Amino acid sequence: MSALADRPENPVVGVRAAHESAALHVTGAAMYTDDLAAQTAGVLTAWPVQSTHAHAKVTVDVSGAYEVPGVVRVLTAADVPGVNDAGIKHDEPLFPDEAMFYGHALVWVLGETQEAARLGAERVQVEYEDLPSFITVQEAIDAGSFQGIPRTVVRGDAAAAMAASAHVFEGVSEFGGQEHFYLETHASLAVRDSEGQYFIQCSTQHPSETQEIVAHVLGVTSSQVTVQCLRMGGGFGGKEMQPHGFAAIAALGAKLTGRPVRVRLNRTQDLTMTGKRHPFHITWKAGFDESGMIQALEAVLTADGGWSLDLSEPVLARALCHLDNSYWIPNVHAHGRIAKTNKTSNTAYRGFGGPQGVYLIEDILGRVAPQLGIDPLRLREQNFYRQGQTTPYGQTVKDADRLGTIWNQLLTEADVVSRQAEIAAFNAASPHVKRAIAMTPIKFGISFNFAAFNQAGALVHVYKDGSVLINHGGTEMGQGLHTKMMQVAATALGLELHQVRLAPTRTDKVPNTSATAASSGADLNGGAVKNACDQIRERMAKVAGRLLGVDERDVRFSGGYVTGLGNTVQRLTFAEVAAAAYFQRIQLFAAGYYRTEGLHWDPEAMHGSPFKYFAYGSAATEVEVDGFTGAYRVTRVDIVHDVGDSLSPMLDIGQIEGAYVQGVGWLTLEELRWDQSDGPHRGRLQTQSASTYKLPSFSEMPEQFHVRLFENAREEGAVYGSKAVGEPPFMLAFSAREALRQAVAEFGPTGHSVDLGSPATPEAVFWAVRRAQEAGASRDAAAAPAERTLSTV
Ligand code: MTE
Ligand code: MOS
Repeated sequence: MSALADRPENPVVGVRAAHESAALHVTGAAMYTDDLAAQTAGVLTAWPVQSTHAHAKVTVDVSGAYEVPGVVRVLTAADVPGVNDAGIKHDEPLFPDEAMFYGHALVWVLGETQEAARLGAERVQVEYEDLPSFITVQEAIDAGSFQGIPRTVVRGDAAAAMAASAHVFEGVSEFGGQEHFYLETHASLAVRDSEGQYFIQCSTQHPSETQEIVAHVLGVTSSQVTVQCLRMGGGFGGKEMQPHGFAAIAALGAKLTGRPVRVRLNRTQDLTMTGKRHPFHITWKAGFDESGMIQALEAVLTADGGWSLDLSEPVLARALCHLDNSYWIPNVHAHGRIAKTNKTSNTAYRGFGGPQGVYLIEDILGRVAPQLGIDPLRLREQNFYRQGQTTPYGQTVKDADRLGTIWNQLLTEADVVSRQAEIAAFNAASPHVKRAIAMTPIKFGISFNFAAFNQAGALVHVYKDGSVLINHGGTEMGQGLHTKMMQVAATALGLELHQVRLAPTRTDKVPNTSATAASSGADLNGGAVKNACDQIRERMAKVAGRLLGVDERDVRFSGGYVTGLGNTVQRLTFAEVAAAAYFQRIQLFAAGYYRTEGLHWDPEAMHGSPFKYFAYGSAATEVEVDGFTGAYRVTRVDIVHDVGDSLSPMLDIGQIEGAYVQGVGWLTLEELRWDQSDGPHRGRLQTQSASTYKLPSFSEMPEQFHVRLFENAREEGAVYGSKAVGEPPFMLAFSAREALRQAVAEFGPTGHSVDLGSPATPEAVFWAVRRAQEAGASRDAAAAPAERTLSTV
């Protein structure tokens, strides 16, 4: 039995624990970075001067700002003692001389108050010398504006298999990005102490990288910079790389003024300055045999990277590694490249390219099913991976049979077949309102594609009184990682949950951490916390064995007590053993470490086994569409999802629900609009607030929402048999998009392929309904062929 997967008595993992900060969250008592700034005496506020041109050489005159009372300092490129760059790719000047997008921060004004800083920023004069700009991906493609390294995944001979296919389809799939809209916008607070050390509180998913960038900008070593993240009011990937520059501004301000400095973006600044999910433009060709089995896929994926590289390369790699989703595609040629546009720098967002890859295959299957004359549900199911098959990039799909098992469980539990019959009867009698139910699966690879990131550390202290304090390298953004880590520690030390306390994430406690990302926070940090606790428990077992007169291997830690097998009279408290260990000079603290074994990946060949395992799930979504307006409702959602043996079932169900709804937001509601005109505001983000950017809210929640965890799902080799949960269920939302497509198809003739705009807003659904109706009308009249964006070659 592997050390990670051992099964303790009375485990605290698997218990339906509430989020460790739930009470603080709901009472408003939970502190966030900028709340700490509000309590800091003498703190200065930094305010950006943002570009009002999409792409231009800039000359900045800051003298006017100093005429505003309360302005203390304006930060410019001349002030940077280290490197004037905030990106890990060195393509993100912190103070640019070329504005790369509308909204780009050019210089920052420090004021005694926010108002002073804001007024000072208004007095800064900027001269622009316009340069050519690319706003849409298509403009960038046409102009050959690309960045980073293109990648290709190849298996078999796609061209030959295509030529031999009975049915060949081709099309374009294009979809937009997504704003993270975390409730807490970007925030940093920097303090410089008398020794010249910097202490930075930051809303960051990646404290170690924030620390490194700050050190580079200041020209100091990492050991002189400590970054702490107490908690985030959401990150969703948007705080994996984007916080660094803001932390560097605060730190630079603290260095130059000797006073604490805060940066806290307001919503409009956050929306106009920070990166979002990558939009993609994809051209594709897919071959199927007579029975609807996929034979070949050729695709060119262009990710819209925005103005700088940021995480675009790994996002693209994950997209290329997920365009198979759950389906066996014997021959693949998929080429990916990154467009450079004059917009915010697109970045990590829940799924990290995975959703963009999955989009492609689900769009293809949804569009071609009517033309193949196969029920989309059966088309998907028949193409599932079978045991032993490998992905296009060469990894064996471990536990592939779970795809079918979960699918069948969902079919039964959600009563899909009888509901399909009811829906058909309803639709036959209802010309203007149509319903549909769709099922989509997910297979999502867990681990960072970059091997070095798959390691983590922890620091666990047991005090003489038996109380426990844990630190680990992961950050808390609402997902419940800290709660899970407390459950892991309590389980490993045989304690009750309340006996474990967790301290904020800090780079001086655990160094060289990876971003809390790729859903692997619990896997990696859980491995490290468990490793630290195991070391301490083993040492304490020796002490307890002597006290109880049993062999150390027969000592049991459970529920806060320590007992010995064979000794039925004596029971020690954990605290008694801790105290005894201290007096015997036994070390009661430990550093824990974990790294994921067995990964290998060749990033150039795009080949290997980059993932520790796959997370699986399926969703069935039913919708109802009004043909007059395109308005729709999500009436019922059923999900069966695989989280291994859940570390914390209530948190996992919360993650699944939240991810699904966030996915539905991306696919059906949320639309980023940029000024594409040649007018004075070219490149300006037009959806700058919650009033113009539609987020899912309570009124869009599914009327019925049933989430079940797949049972007996133990994952050997991951902490206590659990699996990652944060991102995979995001992609279950494709079932909602596919249900909308199928409902729209009901307005058209049999075999009508629906090309649904993205996001599938009521407006997009309305136009798709119109096209379906026109296709029916023209077919009835045997008139000119219906408009078809999907051509059969
Ligand atoms: N859940 C909440 N409430 N808030 C968040 O910001 N981020 C998601 C997911 N769930 C997020 C969330 C993303 S993008 C990831 S990668 C994971 O949580 C990260 O945390 P984990 O690795 O601990 O699952
Ligand atoms: Mo999540 S997109 O990996 O932060």
